[in-house]
Amino acid sequence: MTAGLPPLGQKDTYKVGFAQAESNNPWRIAQTKSMQDEAAKLGYQLVYTDAQGSAAKQVSDVSSMIAQGVDVIFLSLREEKPLVPAIRAAKDADIPVVLFDRPVDPGLAKAGVDYLTFIGSDFAEAGRRLAAWLIKNAKGKTKIIELEGTTGSAPANDRKKGFADAVKAAGGFQIVASQSADFSRDKGRQVAKSLLQAHPDANVIYAHNDEMALGAIAHLEDAGRKPGKDVLVLSIDGGKEAVQAIVDGKINAIAECNPRFGPIAFQTLKNYAAGGKIQPWVKNIDKFYDSSNAAAEVAGTY
Ligand code: AHR
Repeated sequence: MTAGLPPLGQKDTYKVGFAQAESNNPWRIAQTKSMQDEAAKLGYQLVYTDAQGSAAKQVSDVSSMIAQGVDVIFLSLREEKPLVPAIRAAKDADIPVVLFDRPVDPGLAKAGVDYLTFIGSDFAEAGRRLAAWLIKNAKGKTKIIELEGTTGSAPANDRKKGFADAVKAAGGFQIVASQSADFSRDKGRQVAKSLLQAHPDANVIYAHNDEMALGAIAHLEDAGRKPGKDVLVLSIDGGKEAVQAIVDGKINAIAECNPRFGPIAFQTLKNYAAGGKIQPWVKNIDKFYDSSNAAAEVAGTY
């Protein structure tokens, strides 16, 4: 057992809280489905809530799970700070919390102390992997527009830094404009439009997720430009529509952010209940898609 954290006994079945942050894109829907499928497979009761993008609602969702006496709470949060009081309230109620996908500000709460562990991808590594693809395949395309994720969220911060550090170290690239489009397709289209109007010579779009990349592609096509050719498009997530866009030549590369949390989440729960040592970060394994494998991989995507 991890000292100071609420214990979890070994039982045949558990009542498990899953507090989802929002359900506004295929990635979120795949993450929720993976949790529901795994709970059903194991015969565990899943108490599911959707905060619909509101941190205030998610704080009250967690309170309601505490009141319902769940054994553990899996918390998929949005921004790095607002859920810290909810994490503390669960600990005070002797309920272990596992953070999903996005970490909290480590200055405010720590794995192994305030919550059990963080399960998720390495966001900075996704940025570095896409930068490495670009450095190898740019063929003179060096002027980059960046569509950032939700302001204040870990994936937006870390995907930005991982990519920027790598292209800076390589030299010869310029991020000519960078703006949040909130991980949304419609905002991705609008922001791509305004940034490309201001920087018509930009020839690379780096989008922090598929939804924004697909929005940017819609704008490029409306404007008579060829995504994937005139303008290289790099994305993160790996949903079916986006991987198919690689097959169709409209996206050049995608660093996967694996949304299938169910198996690893419930295995972590069982390991903890069995007294196993839990690492502070249980890393998801992410694939990488480009024209070399997209056609073979698309059927297995979500
Ligand atoms: O935190 C992961 C991100 O959240 C995914 O990349 C995005 O699509 C989702 O909304």
